[in-house]
Amino acid sequence: MRSYAAHVIAAALLIAVFPLAAQTTANSNGQRHRERPRPSNLQVLPKDISAQDLIATMHGYEHALGVECSFCHAQNPQTHRLDFASDANPHKNTARTMIRMVNEINTKYLATADEDAPADARQATCGTCHRGNKMPPPFVAPAREEHGPSPSK
Ligand code: HEC
Ligand code: HEC
Repeated sequence: MRSYAAHVIAAALLIAVFPLAAQTTANSNGQRHRERPRPSNLQVLPKDISAQDLIATMHGYEHALGVECSFCHAQNPQTHRLDFASDANPHKNTARTMIRMVNEINTKYLATADEDAPADARQATCGTCHRGNKMPPPFVAPAREEHGPSPSK
C-alpha cells in the first residue's frame, strides 16, 4: 500500500514536471527559455525554416510595418494568448499575399537587375513600400529648385 502511494506520487510528479522539461532547453548562452512548438501552418515560408529565422522574419515584418505581432496574429479566445498558427486575423492572409509578391519581385524581376545597381536596391523587402507604416505612405516628390531643363545648360 505504501509503495503504491509512492508510485502514485512519483507518477504525479513526472506528469507535472515532464511538460516543463520538454518545453525548456538551454540556448547558446546557457539560458533557459521556453521553446515554441514547431510551426504547423506555414503556407508560404519554407516549412523547414529554423525557429530563429522564423522569429527574425517576424521581427522584420514588425519593423517594416511599425506593428506588433497582434496586428497579424489572432488571440485565442480561451487563453487570451496569441495563436500564431490561426488564420482568424485577415491581416495574416494579406501578409501571405505580400510575401508571395515580394518573393516574385525578387526572383523573377530584380534577379535580372543590373549588377552595377546597389545590392539593397536589387532586393525588395516589405519596407521598400511600407517604410514603417501599416499602409504604404503616398510618395511625395521632394521639392525642386527648378523645373525643366536649366537655361544655362
Ligand atoms: C505583417 C504580419 C505579421 C506580423 C506583424 C507577425 N507575423 Fe507571424 N506570421 C505571419 C504570416 C503571414 C505567417 C504564416 C506564414 C506562412 O504561411 O508561411 C506567420 C507565421 C508565424 C508563426 C508560425 C505559426 C505556425 O504554427 O504555422 C509564428 C510562430 C509567428 N508567425 C510568430 C510571430 C511573432 C512572435 C510575431 C511578433 C514578433 C509575428 N509573428 C508577427 C505574419 C505576421
Ligand atoms: C510593392 C509594394 C509593397 C510591398 C513590397 C509590400 N507591401 Fe504590403 N501593402 C502594399 C499596399 C499597396 C497595401 C494596401 C493594399 C492592400 O491592403 O492590399 C499593403 C497592405 C498590407 C497589409 C494590410 C495592411 C492593412 O492595414 O490592412 C499587410 C498586413 C501587408 N501589406 C504586409 C506586407 C508584408 C508582410 C510585406 C513584406 C513581405 C509587404 N506588405 C510588402 C504594398 C506593398
